[in-house]
Amino acid sequence: RILILDFGSQYTQLIARRVRESRVYCELHPYDMTMAEISAFKPSGIILSGGPKSVYDSGAPPVEEALFELGVPILGICYGMQLLSQHFGGKVVPAGKREYGHAVLEAIGEPGDLFDGFFTEGTSSVWMSHGDHVEVVPVGFEVVARTTNAPVCAIQNPQRNLYGVQFHPEVNHTPQGELMLSTFVRKICRCSGQWTPGKIVDDAVARIREQVGTEQVILGLSGGVDSSVAAALIHRAIGDQLHCVFVDNGLLRLDEGDQVMATFAGNLGVKVTRVNAQRRFYDGLKGEVDPEKKRKIIGNLFVDIFEEQAGEVEDAQWLAQGTIYPDVIESAGAKTGKAHNIKSHHNVGGLPDYMKLKLLEPLRELFKDEVRAIGEELGLPKQMVWRHPFPGPGLGVRVLGEVKEEYCDILRRADAIYIDELYETGHYHKISQAFAVFLPVKSVGVMGDGRTYEYVIALRAVETKDFMTAGWYPMPYADLARISNRIINEVKGVNRVVYDISSKPPATIEWE
Ligand code: XMP
Repeated sequence: RILILDFGSQYTQLIARRVRESRVYCELHPYDMTMAEISAFKPSGIILSGGPKSVYDSGAPPVEEALFELGVPILGICYGMQLLSQHFGGKVVPAGKREYGHAVLEAIGEPGDLFDGFFTEGTSSVWMSHGDHVEVVPVGFEVVARTTNAPVCAIQNPQRNLYGVQFHPEVNHTPQGELMLSTFVRKICRCSGQWTPGKIVDDAVARIREQVGTEQVILGLSGGVDSSVAAALIHRAIGDQLHCVFVDNGLLRLDEGDQVMATFAGNLGVKVTRVNAQRRFYDGLKGEVDPEKKRKIIGNLFVDIFEEQAGEVEDAQWLAQGTIYPDVIESAGAKTGKAHNIKSHHNVGGLPDYMKLKLLEPLRELFKDEVRAIGEELGLPKQMVWRHPFPGPGLGVRVLGEVKEEYCDILRRADAIYIDELYETGHYHKISQAFAVFLPVKSVGVMGDGRTYEYVIALRAVETKDFMTAGWYPMPYADLARISNRIINEVKGVNRVVYDISSKPPATIEWE
């Protein structure tokens, strides 16, 4: 397994993803992990990430120097390469010109094993983002490649399996980067690539059985990817010791409640209690127009209802949650201040401490794409596994202003037509997130001989990698025309459809 030490680069998570895509297990830890912890981890290789600081600054995050004497292969990326250079007597200086964006890397001589297949006719396109570079090559190292602006862009000491690159192999903008990282972990570090969906499931099942023994587990099933995969996985491990609670809050998509029940209670034979709490949510939300207050009301009601249900399960000792690796990294980063991208939304509001349940989080080490892959492995429907993200408060934040059942019903039907058309036309899988929004304003229209005075539906579709920034999806006019026609003809109460062409920032993805 591979250890990635994080020096604060915005791309560190991507390194971990690329390594996992090579089917090699890895973990991401803060740079100040102690030598004892590093040795206990028993890494087959170590990757040092990039970071925003300069190695020659006071206060620059250091690395445990003994790391370089461990004898395991090390790859330093950007700041990581500069640390490596400094340790072995090289010199890092501010670059005359900051390099940001695409650059052409030129090989110098025979590039060697790590760069097998990386260069075509001696060059390779790479993504740069740095203000410093290595000026004096460290002792024992050779220069593998340069760019016009940086004479030392990749270095190696193959005898000791030490490598450094100034560019970012982990981003998609470095086309051969994935190959290079895969070569590093598979060939140089000799990891065997056993991290496959089947293996992940087997390991997780064994671990859950060992942890839980004969005790009872409760889980709040939302129908979202993470809680669904967690439920299917835990059920595979301990069958009827798992008790799921599915709260229908009236803010779900069309027929979603029935689909969740059909999949879990029906096909998989999971014990699921469906709580029809629609009325409680609509009543609780009555008169509230502030989005943050609406979120609180929805979150609190969920906790109340979940607690009531949990009380019905005799001897429940465990609370299972679909926490995934990015959630873990995010909250660790939020605590230590090391992560740079911090999302403001979390699904898991958390349950009160007095519930005194032990936490079971079988997806804690997995990325979203791994969670989806094991979801398929566990036999969940493709549509459920590959669904766009859906916010915890659901339609509660997509009906703008006061939430009413009537508005939710209109929105549900419009949204279903929209999503249905996106599947039909093949747009769905090119889009990161798409949904309809209900605007509680009436505009004038004409239908037949009469004037109408009805509501507006806004359609949103965005493309994004990380949901921190997003661009609007360039939907072809003909498709927009058909979707709009269908919604206005088929959904009573709507006479106008608009398409949202705002990017994030300055707009957000959701409207509230
Ligand atoms: P924004 O609107 O902030 O959304 O650009 C970014 C991502 O977060 C989702 N989102 C939420 N998810 N609870 C959630 O679980 C929320 O309150 C919430 N608000 C936004 C949104 O759907 C998008 O994927």
